[in-house]
Amino acid sequence: NTGALWGGRFSGGPADALAALSKSTDFDWRLAHHDIAGSRAHARVLHTAGLLDEDELARMLAGLDQLDADVASGAYVAAESDEDVHGSLERGLIERVGPELGGKLRAGRSRNDQIATLGRMYLREAAASIATGVLATIDALVGQAQAHPDAAMPGRTHLQHAQPVLLAHHLLAHAWALLRDVQRLIDWDARAAVSPYGSGALAGSSLGLDPNAVAAELGFASAVHNSIDGTASRDVYAEFAWVTAMIGVDLSRISEEVILWATKEFGFVTLDDAYSTGSSIMPQKKNPDVAELARGKAGRLIGDLTGLLATLKGLPLAYNRDLQEDKEPVFDAVDTLELLLPAVSGMIATLTFHTDRMADLAPQGFALATDVAEWLVRAGVPFREAHELSGEAVKLAESRGVELWDLSDEDYAGISDRFTPDVRGVLSTEGSLTSRSSQGGTAPVAVAAQLEALTAQLDAV
Ligand code: ARG
Repeated sequence: NTGALWGGRFSGGPADALAALSKSTDFDWRLAHHDIAGSRAHARVLHTAGLLDEDELARMLAGLDQLDADVASGAYVAAESDEDVHGSLERGLIERVGPELGGKLRAGRSRNDQIATLGRMYLREAAASIATGVLATIDALVGQAQAHPDAAMPGRTHLQHAQPVLLAHHLLAHAWALLRDVQRLIDWDARAAVSPYGSGALAGSSLGLDPNAVAAELGFASAVHNSIDGTASRDVYAEFAWVTAMIGVDLSRISEEVILWATKEFGFVTLDDAYSTGSSIMPQKKNPDVAELARGKAGRLIGDLTGLLATLKGLPLAYNRDLQEDKEPVFDAVDTLELLLPAVSGMIATLTFHTDRMADLAPQGFALATDVAEWLVRAGVPFREAHELSGEAVKLAESRGVELWDLSDEDYAGISDRFTPDVRGVLSTEGSLTSRSSQGGTAPVAVAAQLEALTAQLDAV
């Protein structure tokens, strides 16, 4: 018994080169537990359909339980000659219950509907675990936001100073993006919770087996309505790969900022020793390798997605062996995020923020020019004119190498009689921040409300 699932119509065995190419146990073995769970459910519908008697079912289930335990303990592993996880486990079952009974399990199912189902089962569990890791990263961001409720920093567009914002506001911006990723995993699950089992090779089963009974036992909400779709589609995998790539991109954007913030030039953060690395030659170095690996792994996750899409493109219905290539990209995406998420969340949770330096820089670079223009608007000046007048103040300050608050009342009056000394009320970080109090704005009161809204959505996932 070699674990081969076919051979009757062949006179010779496969060439070594074909066997080597065809073999998938190196990567599909991680589905062994799911394969056995599928086999239990399949044995039950065979019994319901009258194809296994009571005693056969009991012996079959006991054999599968034994096999499952042996796989878990490592007592049973794939043999060199096994083509894939399905063939290997049939071999293992036959070793345990004998060829007469063991040979009955394959009736009415195909590796095509099996693999499509097992992949969904595995990815649904992986999605839940990844969601937990993303939520921990959100918690780290929220924790830092709560620890620094009043800290200001330069808000940037084009990486240039734009307007002062609260550090908490900036950190929560990353949290919202990651929350949507968690919500995406949850939305995705509704599409993944449909079982292809019972589709057979592509056309369904003639043996009176109930796909919905199998689906329910395996934790799916329902069974597919089209056996060709069930065996040939992989959009659910591709969507999973897209969400994992998006998580990678979101972690990468946070990481790029941490890398910048940790430079001498920014000086916004110090990384905890436990989340930084040294140099083999430069004794002084403290490098942000976690953040850099996150940025690098995002490329890898994007590659997993594009590789999978390229595999799917151009495949005719129904199953084609190309689909064996569907697994490694999504498995790699899972493994990558399982490694990355704890490192990134730990790095964020242990950052030390240099809030004095951030606050010093927050209003610099004429970051209050919009406040000056909006002060004029509140005094009745059309924004078009207000923009010009504030711009003239910037020009004057820049020519003198000073900031907007260094200009005198006379300087402002000289630019326009619309300016009064009251304009000084907005020439501070605090004035600027406090004024942006509409929903979604950076005022402390708005950020406190934002945190409540975020917490409510977090509680709902
Ligand atoms: N190992 C295959 C896969 O991963 C499943 C087996 C289907 N093979 C076949 N010859 N129909 O997709």
